[in-house]
Amino acid sequence: MGQLDGKIAWVTGAGSGIGEAAAIALAGEGAVLVLTGRRKEPLDDVAAKIKAAGGKAHVHPCDLTVSAEVDDAAEQIAKRLGRIDILVSNAGANIVDRHWNKISAEGIDTLINFNLSSAMYVARAVMGIMRAQGGGLMIHTASMAGRNTGGFSGPGYQAAKHGVVAMSHSINQEECINGIRSTALLPGEVNTPILKQRPNPLSPEELARMLQPEDTGEVIRWIACQPKHVCINEMWVTPAWNRSYVAAIQRKL
Ligand SMILES: NC(=O)c1ccc[n+]([C@@H]2O[C@H](COP(=O)([O-])OP(=O)(O)OC[C@H]3O[C@@H](n4cnc5c(N)ncnc54)[C@H](OP(=O)(O)O)[C@@H]3O)[C@@H](O)[C@H]2O)c1
Repeated sequence: MGQLDGKIAWVTGAGSGIGEAAAIALAGEGAVLVLTGRRKEPLDDVAAKIKAAGGKAHVHPCDLTVSAEVDDAAEQIAKRLGRIDILVSNAGANIVDRHWNKISAEGIDTLINFNLSSAMYVARAVMGIMRAQGGGLMIHTASMAGRNTGGFSGPGYQAAKHGVVAMSHSINQEECINGIRSTALLPGEVNTPILKQRPNPLSPEELARMLQPEDTGEVIRWIACQPKHVCINEMWVTPAWNRSYVAAIQRKL
């Protein structure tokens, strides 16, 4: 018996990294998964892993920057599976030319659309379904960059992730009376494909010292298993060897 037996969980960005690990962890606890990303192949691979472990998973590719596709995906999931109990709104992106000395207007649009607008489209699409069923849980993967400025991630990403954190809190402020809970999850560096977009490549030693996707998957599973009267409003999870702190310490030495 899993703690999430029979719950329907929609994970975005489920084909890799944090989303893949979250989907596998939630399925291991008994949830029925719907996996979304733009590319179908990685989603099929994750679904196959879940099914091989005895779990249940459906694949629904879509581009979350297109609000009509997001609305359609949420409607189809609710029609097919009856409800959406857990949303892990996790998809996001960064770009190489991210700092003020290089960023283009197109790059700014990408960062806002892929990290903030898409997250708001997904929350909006799920909100009516959760209200109608009497509640639900949303977990939004923001970032440490959603509370801090400076450092590796760049101004557009930081602005968008600050928006995601604010959005998540606003859901609790407006929707707690409808049984809807929202968590802003703020990871530090996690060893996932998004780090390939870093302007300065990372060494295998640096990647090994970071959080691994399974660490964040386990945190997401834990949040999803909290009872309905508990709301985890915001959670920071970082590597113990936090490179932004280490850089600050080394500058002082
Ligand atoms: N890794 C870190 O250090 C770190 C730290 C803090 C926060 N985060 C955040 O964690 C989340 C997950 O990232 P990750 O680290 O796991 O990297 P990742 O492996 O690159 O995952 C990002 C996922 O988002 C999907 N995606 C991107 N744009 C999409 C769109 N328009 N529509 C649908 N799906 C889309 C991608 O799949 P497709 O390409 O197939 O669409 C991909 O599976 C992101 O929000 C990221 O900002 C990461």
